[in-house]
Amino acid sequence: MKYRRLGKSGLKISELSFGSWVTFSNQLDEKKGRELLEVAYDAGINFFDSAETYADGEAELLLGKIFRETKWKRDSFVVSSKVFWGGTLPTQRGLSRKHVHDACHAALRRLQVDYLDLYFCHRPDVHTPIEETVRAMNSLIEQGKVLYWGTSEWSAQQIMEAYSVARQYNLIPPTMEQPQYNMFCRERVEKEYARLYHEIGLGTTIWSPLASGVLTGKYAKGVPANTRVSLPGYEWLKRSIIDSSEGQDHIAKAERLRGIASDLGVSLTQLALAWCLRVPYVSTVILGATSKSQLVENLGAKDVISKLTPDVIEAIESILDNHPETTPEY
Ligand SMILES: NC(=O)c1ccc[n+]([C@@H]2O[C@H](COP(=O)([O-])OP(=O)(O)OC[C@H]3O[C@@H](n4cnc5c(N)ncnc54)[C@H](OP(=O)(O)O)[C@@H]3O)[C@@H](O)[C@H]2O)c1
Repeated sequence: MKYRRLGKSGLKISELSFGSWVTFSNQLDEKKGRELLEVAYDAGINFFDSAETYADGEAELLLGKIFRETKWKRDSFVVSSKVFWGGTLPTQRGLSRKHVHDACHAALRRLQVDYLDLYFCHRPDVHTPIEETVRAMNSLIEQGKVLYWGTSEWSAQQIMEAYSVARQYNLIPPTMEQPQYNMFCRERVEKEYARLYHEIGLGTTIWSPLASGVLTGKYAKGVPANTRVSLPGYEWLKRSIIDSSEGQDHIAKAERLRGIASDLGVSLTQLALAWCLRVPYVSTVILGATSKSQLVENLGAKDVISKLTPDVIEAIESILDNHPETTPEY
């Protein structure tokens, strides 16, 4: 496993990491969850991603139990949480000082840890001044409850605003952003944030690298049993990745990409993950998996990066046909 700096911070996280959205508590119980976490940790993964909203807190509860059982040294792994969707009451959501404070303490209790390494604002909150959120995050860091804070799916402009406010008042600015990034969703990471990597040293912990499984090719012949799109509560995901014309276009493109993967002697899944890893300003690719065999296959992606020669990248681009336009220089 290789380790990358989280942006310009000194924190080194594994280039592949492991997340708990959909899977922990919905698809994985304690025994299975522990098995996968141990496979990940033994392979050198040192970052585990979570959020207050995952399975309404149950995912973090499960992770907390497993961390306790494994007795991993706290200084050997990095764990995150995210704040935004904590409940239905007005005080239980968003990025007000109150909810940021309450959500952080609840996550610490669920995860059974003394501090969160990474704490993300899960979405921007248009009802809270950015200065209030920046101050709330800074205060958690000063109390030792959070080490690094960042954002998820914020626009470049919102991130810059948070950064500027922090600089103006001598507070700690955001270190990282958690955006979606995969072969079908690339504009933000490749274009919108481009200046932020250099100007503020932004790190990225990217999510859904397999577009929820589409880039494994598993949906080419319909919906197999036991995948996330068949779960109750995830009908919206099925509508977006199976029942839409865009979803069908992605499934067809994944089939064409399979040819490139077989020429390289790797799986489509590994090709898609390595394609994300090729980007130097991706600090870590967060994997999701519901079985040991999926996770082991995905871990193999780190050995595929060297096979992505310029010719291979060009062949992939010609299938994807979605390279972000270059910003004109005058
Ligand atoms: N910040 C945010 O807003 C945000 C949003 C989403 C996710 N995330 C984070 O990013 C992490 C990863 O996202 P994701 O789970 O959507 O990633 P993903 O890689 O796009 O999808 C993972 C899912 O694809 C299927 N899969 C994975 N490997 C496979 C393989 N080798 N063969 C066949 N199927 C395979 C599994 O689902 P099935 O077995 O059910 O098919 C697995 O759970 C999450 O756990 C979470 O920590 C963050």
